Amino acid sequence: MTLNFAHRGSMTEAPENTIPAFQKALEHGAQAIELDVQLTKDDELVVCHDHHFRRYNKNVKGKIRSFTLEEIKQIDVGSKKGEEFAGISLPTLEEVLNLCPSEIMLNVEIKNIPVIYEGIEDILIHTLDRHHRLDNVIISSFDHVALKKVQEINPEIPLGMLFYYRILNPWDYAKNSGLNINSIHPNQIYTDQTFVEECKKLGYKVYPYTVNGQKQYEKLLDYGVDGVFSNWPDIFGT
Ligand code: G3P
Ligand code: CA
Repeated sequence: MTLNFAHRGSMTEAPENTIPAFQKALEHGAQAIELDVQLTKDDELVVCHDHHFRRYNKNVKGKIRSFTLEEIKQIDVGSKKGEEFAGISLPTLEEVLNLCPSEIMLNVEIKNIPVIYEGIEDILIHTLDRHHRLDNVIISSFDHVALKKVQEINPEIPLGMLFYYRILNPWDYAKNSGLNINSIHPNQIYTDQTFVEECKKLGYKVYPYTVNGQKQYEKLLDYGVDGVFSNWPDIFGT
């Protein structure tokens, strides 16, 4: 059985990583949702891919880290996508947790590049714990030091190891990392049969990103991936 993650919610239909995007993903029957987290000036977790607002609103200068949550809640991140989204703001992680039923698998990606958020791992785990949301979750990151910190705080949380570039034998790297890796999240560009087989031999699930076409999707399924990250609503519920 595959598990496909609605990537940043349903980002083709609503501003990515916002409540309308997550609502749309749920309407499409998504069983799993991916989102990115960043920290505000006052150490609140907000859901956003970038460390700035440029993708949503080019009038807003400065980093997410330099605004308080109260200030961030005044920033429009919807209008650029369409008038129907005018006035919406970045959601907090808590708002997304309140929206998504516990049976929905959540993949929370810690965005520690290029800004390193000291302490984000602790804040994230405590937020998930407060919401009784430590069960059906994967914490992932390109920053493997962040994954190590997550494991030190709570060794039970499934970790997703993200790889952007093609590196030599990433499955061996994962095995030798000392981390209890649940899943490998590779760039789909270089995910091939050998990659999937080697990961599976070591017991890792494989979820490539970002897969938006039928041909690519079917090829990856043939390789034996456990699911994909996708912007393509047709496969959210499959
Ligand atoms: O977690 C999969 C994917 O979201 C990683 O890349 O840049 O879309 O966060 P990015
Ligand atoms: Ca992401």
